[in-house]
Amino acid sequence: MSDEIFQSYGIHRWSQGMFARMENGDLGIVNPARPDAPPAGLPELLHALDARGIHTPVLVRVGAFLRRQIEALNAAFAKAIEANDYNAPYRGVFPIKVNQQAEVIDRIVEYGQPFQFGLEAGSKPELILALSRDLPKGALLICNGIKDAEFIRLGILARKAGINCVLVIESPAEADTVIAEAKRLGEMPALGVRIKLTRRVTGNWADSSGDRSTFGLTTKEVVDLVDKLRDADMLDCLVLQHAHLGSQVPQVIDIRQAVDEACRFYTELRRLGVPLQYLDLGGGLGIDYTGEARASENSINYTMDEYCSNIVETVKYQMDAAEVPHPTLVTESGRAIVAYSSMLLSDILEASYFDRSAPITPEEDDHHMLSDMAAIVEYLTPRRIQECLNDAEYYREELRAMFRRGVIGIEEVARAEQIFLYVIGRIKDLVAQTPDVPAEVREELSAHRDIYRANFSLFQSLPDVWAIDQLVPIAPLQRLNERPTRRAVLSDITCDSDGKIDQFVLGDGIGNALPIHELQHGERYFIGIFLVGAYQETLGDLHNLFGDTNVVTVDFNEDGVLELQNEVEGDTVSEVMASVEYEPKQCLDAFKRIVERGVREGALNPSQRRMLMQTYRDSLNGYTYYEHEEQTHG
Ligand SMILES: Cc1ncc(COP(=O)(O)O)c(C=O)c1O
Repeated sequence: MSDEIFQSYGIHRWSQGMFARMENGDLGIVNPARPDAPPAGLPELLHALDARGIHTPVLVRVGAFLRRQIEALNAAFAKAIEANDYNAPYRGVFPIKVNQQAEVIDRIVEYGQPFQFGLEAGSKPELILALSRDLPKGALLICNGIKDAEFIRLGILARKAGINCVLVIESPAEADTVIAEAKRLGEMPALGVRIKLTRRVTGNWADSSGDRSTFGLTTKEVVDLVDKLRDADMLDCLVLQHAHLGSQVPQVIDIRQAVDEACRFYTELRRLGVPLQYLDLGGGLGIDYTGEARASENSINYTMDEYCSNIVETVKYQMDAAEVPHPTLVTESGRAIVAYSSMLLSDILEASYFDRSAPITPEEDDHHMLSDMAAIVEYLTPRRIQECLNDAEYYREELRAMFRRGVIGIEEVARAEQIFLYVIGRIKDLVAQTPDVPAEVREELSAHRDIYRANFSLFQSLPDVWAIDQLVPIAPLQRLNERPTRRAVLSDITCDSDGKIDQFVLGDGIGNALPIHELQHGERYFIGIFLVGAYQETLGDLHNLFGDTNVVTVDFNEDGVLELQNEVEGDTVSEVMASVEYEPKQCLDAFKRIVERGVREGALNPSQRRMLMQTYRDSLNGYTYYEHEEQTHG
């Protein structure tokens, strides 16, 4: 039976073996390096944290899960490369925006060291922190996003310090700034071009793909860029082609088709004489949040191995057909690297039960409808479930109307509510034991789910669940050997009616109620919300580390002239970095050491070092948004 209970939460389907039920019924995490060792219990962890004064809700990051995913992705590409006689390596990068926390980035850099795993920066603040991370030699630092001149200068000069920065051109105007900066500095950048694929992928993020996507150059703009770079004598700089396939792509066929199209661009650009070496396919590798292994918004119909072999096979086939050397393959997988590694653990504070187990008898003077309602249980049989439900709803409505009109008093309507809950409880019991109950009845009964209040904020911790109905697995952390007798929605402690979760990943699909145990007096009841490592930690207010904007208050004065009355400066790069656990001074010192090494090795002269450090310092103290040159120097 315990297995059945564990499986009713679908844990065996979505957890990829990283979570397991323990003998005592607790949920534990499995060490991926020693899968046969006993799991480590999560309730035990929470008690140990509690004793140290670290209380729920707590976001738990598991380093070993992060390492597992980085190793798995690199191993899957290595396997596909070998199996297909592919002649170039895979060099993945982690897109910082997916989880910018210093702790996470540092571990990714550490675990990715053997694979020359790099980083992707989508904004100036992200570049500033990436530059301070001492990536392994050969690892890529891909710079996406709209770049101002300062951003571009950093990207060009950092190459001199041995950092493999590639500036991906996102628009025709950006190309002009890059050419101007390169000429001014007398240094050549490594460039990429972001192309717009015409194929749209399916899923929640379909809009980031296809030719209506807001990013990337149209085919005509790509051809113009080639001419522009050739005219500027900079065509040799264009070494990377970037195309973002989308995010959480549900269907493997979409990936194959998008890669196929990206290859057509690549081989054609090579034909035009562009010396491309890297094919960057962006993000898209999905996570099976529901464990259903099907092509739907929260699931995927492929494995990581299939994703990698589909890419390698497709690229090899296309390159061989066009007689083009195999490019180094790059992906910017974010979600697949970090989603598993974080979970939000909390506890239930209270429960509102929407039924009642003990019967209640109406009083002598009560309206007859109370007795009529109480009598429903006498004719409750599997065939008459719907009728009983209708009757109970009818009596309750009538009695509530009588209360509103002043016919019955508050104690009487309170008794009526209790009788109703008792009848509903018996109907729920019978439904639980009856196969083939009409969907309509289940639907109606779902209005009477319990409400369990958990100590967390949906808006702070799970913004995608609130905003785009992302599904994440949720399960109790204890009593997994005891059948849960309640069905509940989870409510958070914000005073917002949206602050609830009412869609759950279950063993047999998606349900609108979480099977959950009745609370026991004096005992804490913990729950876990899993696979929240990607996008959830800082998405709410610091996407890409763009901070607060400048704020001004203006008003008309007595003469009717509009005047500035108050001004609040927006965040600087160092301020947003501090909010995701970086110490800006340490970043500056770390970057200084990297740059000085470049000077020692003769790659950069002292005056270039001064300019690079000055630009870095200016960026740290500057605004997080695009700055025009006169602003950065103002
Ligand atoms: C340019 C780029 N690269 C990579 C990613 C990461 O995608 P995913 O988390 O699906 O791997 C994104 C996210 O949308 C992106 O916009």
